[in-house]
Amino acid sequence: MTKALVAYATRTGETQQIGELVAEGMRFSGIAVDVVDVKNIASEKDLAGYDAYVFGSPTYHGDMLQGMKTFLFLVEKVELKGRAGGAFGSFGWSGEAAERIFETMKNIFGMDMADNPLMLKNSSLGGGIKMAQDYGRQIAAKLGP
Ligand SMILES: Cc1cc2nc3c(=O)[nH]c(=O)nc-3n(C[C@H](O)[C@H](O)[C@H](O)COP(=O)(O)O)c2cc1C
Repeated sequence: MTKALVAYATRTGETQQIGELVAEGMRFSGIAVDVVDVKNIASEKDLAGYDAYVFGSPTYHGDMLQGMKTFLFLVEKVELKGRAGGAFGSFGWSGEAAERIFETMKNIFGMDMADNPLMLKNSSLGGGIKMAQDYGRQIAAKLGP
């Protein structure tokens, strides 16, 4: 079965909620998805066996959370070139974290990324639920029928 990993960092839970909705969108497309806090990803083995990878962090002080930075150094050790990917994050006004994760996945890991990072203030605002689900569908579409 086609499998995806949604890995997130969060402080107050908003980014986790967005990640759950992105996963839901992928599941609508028949993909099995694990949604995991980066705190629970300890080694390269935890990253093996997925066809798509979607990473998320909120923005604090113009930056992603430290847990996501540390996680990305772990991901660097795994060969993800050409794998489907996406990045997301909750934000208040500037939202740099999702963009930086997205650019790292694209430029350093060489992944086949979604059109844009998904940046939402709150999943329940302004059509956020559908936007997050659609983001999941967009990444799922890269994996074929
Ligand atoms: C101390 C503090 C600093 C923040 N800095 C930023 C920032 O630089 N840019 C931004 O867009 N949002 C900023 N925010 C807003 C958070 O990104 C927002 O509350 C987000 O929903 C938190 O997501 P989380 O629940 O996943 O931790 C900040 C919030 C706090 C409390």
